[in-house]
Amino acid sequence: MALLIAVLTLVLLVSASTSPAIALSLNHYEKTCPDVESIVAKAVERATMKDKTVPAALLRMHFHDCFIRGCDASVLLYSKGNNKAEKDGPANLSLHGFYVIENAKKEVEAACPGVVSCADILAFAARDAVVLSGGPTWEVPKGRKDGRTSKASETIQLPAPTFNISQLQQSFSQRGLSMDDLVALSGGHTIGFSHCSSFQNRIRNFNATHDIDPTMHPSFAASLRNVCPIKNKAKNAGANGSFFNSFR
Ligand code: HEM
Repeated sequence: MALLIAVLTLVLLVSASTSPAIALSLNHYEKTCPDVESIVAKAVERATMKDKTVPAALLRMHFHDCFIRGCDASVLLYSKGNNKAEKDGPANLSLHGFYVIENAKKEVEAACPGVVSCADILAFAARDAVVLSGGPTWEVPKGRKDGRTSKASETIQLPAPTFNISQLQQSFSQRGLSMDDLVALSGGHTIGFSHCSSFQNRIRNFNATHDIDPTMHPSFAASLRNVCPIKNKAKNAGANGSFFNSFR
């Protein structure tokens, strides 16, 4: 668990450092917006009470934001004119729950106009989402700037569900993240769901010699085949909403 906390903090720092020289600090809003974290926490909690899928959505949204151009909230920007934004890139079409961040931002603006970045709000919300799911908490360093550039074409840089371990390792190391970070951050998947279509090719008709991907544990593959019937590719497979703290 300590590793997960350390790495979640690290990913925020590393990805923020890809934006132009920003010094993050824990007391960034101490004088200008002291209640910001509790405002965001309450907004996330209210949304979660109405929709249990919110925490997983927010955690994934934060990861997808940080991987492209650093944690700059570029994932929240809307497509405009000829510019197709990140949220309309193929890898982000299944992101959801944007309204939770938009509502939290409105409440923060009412309390302290023009002070808190959307990037920080998303970082707080992702932490709150993990806590609400029974996972660890961590201090979020603050002071991220919001980006103004958001390009759907750049979402190709997000790791694909078909990536093998070397490809995943390369993708993470390009952002200064180690194999330990990759393993710990994969613990984010102890909450939320995946569309069956994301792994359908591994559980049936895998190749000429194997019906099931031989690198999958047979009982895990069997349970996935159970929840993902052949004729219903739209179905989801996933855990319940509780964070699995013993993930290693
Ligand atoms: C290591 C590379 C990663 C890959 C290839 C990957 C891939 C995926 C895929 C394919 C899904 C299912 C999407 C769908 O079918 O709708 C998913 C869901 C999810 N991912 Fe990842 N992911 C990765 C890393 C991460 C990280 C680092 C985090 C956060 C720490 C994360 C958090 C989540 C969450 C919470 C969900 C569930 C979303 C929901 O239920 O709405 N993922 N991921």
